[in-house]
Amino acid sequence: MKNIVLFASGSGSNVENIAHYFKSNPDVTISAVLSNKKDAMVLERCNRLNISSLYFNRSSFYEKDLVRKILRTLNPDLIVLAGFLWKMPRNLIQDFPDKIINIHPALLPKYGGKGMYGNRVHQAVKENREVETGITIHFVNENYDEGAIIYQAKTTISPEDTVQSIASRVQALEYKYFPKIIEKLLNEG
Ligand code: GRF
Repeated sequence: MKNIVLFASGSGSNVENIAHYFKSNPDVTISAVLSNKKDAMVLERCNRLNISSLYFNRSSFYEKDLVRKILRTLNPDLIVLAGFLWKMPRNLIQDFPDKIINIHPALLPKYGGKGMYGNRVHQAVKENREVETGITIHFVNENYDEGAIIYQAKTTISPEDTVQSIASRVQALEYKYFPKIIEKLLNEG
């Protein structure tokens, strides 16, 4: 049995999509979803989906090592960031080498880094008249959006595209590929 821990602090639509994908797979379980936002919609989704979830604050993440202790207990095969914006502490990265991955809604190394999230990314892509955008799934290191790239998928952009239309095509790529890449990494590990 492989187990995944997810970190999310937004709507959690990727969490739900991943949960749905693995629902009928007896070899993969989501042991917990961890969130740094008490009122995040992802926590409501977890209740509805019957997935264990836990809220943590800044000091339990960066100072008290509480999240690290929880992760050591859960011993996940893969830690998946799906809409999580805080930087991962160094000791946590060291505990789980090559086992923490993130998804970013653009083709890194472009449009990454601190403050580049959500529609800000798509807005910047549109303003720069890019002809393509996409998703990047990558390993997490100590810098935002800079770990080794595992997978990218692209979609073209036309001048008529709006931020919203770009966002929904990128989201469709996330839903299509993120669970498959997670599955592949679990099978390889
Ligand atoms: C996704 O666009 C993902 O690329 C980014 O955060 C967003 C999470 O969306 N890292 P949701 O909360 O899964 O709907």
